[in-house]
Amino acid sequence: MTEKKLPFTKSQIEEIIQKYPTPFHIYDEKAIRENAKKLIKTFSWCDTFKEYFAVKANPNPYLLKILKEEGFGADCSSLAELVLAEKASITGENIMFTSNDTPAEEYVKAKKLGAIINLDDITHIDFLEQNTGLPDLICFRYNPGPLRGGNALIGKPEEAKYGLTKDQILEAYKICKQKGIKRFGLHTMLASNELDPNYFIDTAIMLFDLVVDLSKEVGIKMEFVNLGGGFGIPYRPEQNRLDMDYISAGIKKAFEEKIVKNKLNPLKIFMECGRIITGPYGYLVTKAIHKKDTYKNYIGLDACMSNLMRPALYGAYHHITVMGKENALFDKKYDIVGSLCENNDKFAIDRMLPKIDTGDIVVIHDTGAHGFAMGFNYNGKLRSKELLLKQDGSVELIRRAETLDDYFATLDFSKL
Ligand SMILES: Cc1ncc(COP(=O)(O)O)c(C=O)c1O
Repeated sequence: MTEKKLPFTKSQIEEIIQKYPTPFHIYDEKAIRENAKKLIKTFSWCDTFKEYFAVKANPNPYLLKILKEEGFGADCSSLAELVLAEKASITGENIMFTSNDTPAEEYVKAKKLGAIINLDDITHIDFLEQNTGLPDLICFRYNPGPLRGGNALIGKPEEAKYGLTKDQILEAYKICKQKGIKRFGLHTMLASNELDPNYFIDTAIMLFDLVVDLSKEVGIKMEFVNLGGGFGIPYRPEQNRLDMDYISAGIKKAFEEKIVKNKLNPLKIFMECGRIITGPYGYLVTKAIHKKDTYKNYIGLDACMSNLMRPALYGAYHHITVMGKENALFDKKYDIVGSLCENNDKFAIDRMLPKIDTGDIVVIHDTGAHGFAMGFNYNGKLRSKELLLKQDGSVELIRRAETLDDYFATLDFSKL
């Protein structure tokens, strides 16, 4: 069970809304910092452990700066994400660039920043060499195919477009060694929102085994393994948080058995989590603006799926709190909807909630990762502002809301 708490009271959020009208995402800085510190402590047995925050989960440079202060790097997968990392003063090997189907200009920028470049395919060795020259340190993304089971959100590895096969990865490191590269890393990313702790231990075992094989078959000494992200969070109150201590202990055991015993130490351990870092500490704050009773009972919010795609995209559950009605009877069944002309623009379907009146503040939980980030402009809907609830209780606007001018910025009406 996970208690669905809020970092603000009804009167506090009303005060915030006075200055910053709904809808908005608000992020809890104190909780994010505490969580970041806890992750580093959990892996303190490995003094080279580093988390590269997956920028795609929450591409706000103010949050990247906070995470940098906590010792995190940035995992980027596009030109825009590289620029965001740079703006947050994250550069050099504090950036890991994990892209796929990558345009040349993105490799050029990554190389210029001194990022660790993680190649998604064996053919990208030549592509990189031709476009930027080869770097001193190279990493490859491993796709184990049928050797690993699937994960509901990301699908089966063998059907995923990402990464190199086992044979290709052996060949890829051989080629890079022949080309004079001396520093190597190994990466994988197989799961998404996975709540089985053993999945991550199995991933570490798989990578450590591959490090041993690469040492024997190619004669290279791996500098780091990146276990990827995909660690899940309990979106539903009846779910439990992942036991990170258990995961860390399992990885440590595998590390000792496979890396230390084979004298392949030192080997740095990296991760590139997004969701577990900021997900539970973001909230989409909205107002109920319409009630509609037809074949079902609807509550219309002033937010829509442009602000949060996950329910529409995956049928994902997000917990909902109606401010001031936390202890009321949950005796009404509602579809909680947005205004998009898509019938899947529903934050919740058949959800038992207290009676909602127009004007009520409705808070959607766990929007701190893959929330704002996924938003889009279909129907001309504009993305909301983002706020930071700072450690001293004050609130900072860390991204303004889009305006119609932003939406029309790529059109030249004068030529009509
Ligand atoms: C390459 C890569 N790394 C890291 C992540 C972060 O995943 P999560 O936020 O589930 O930890 C993703 C998510 O899509 C990804 O594609």
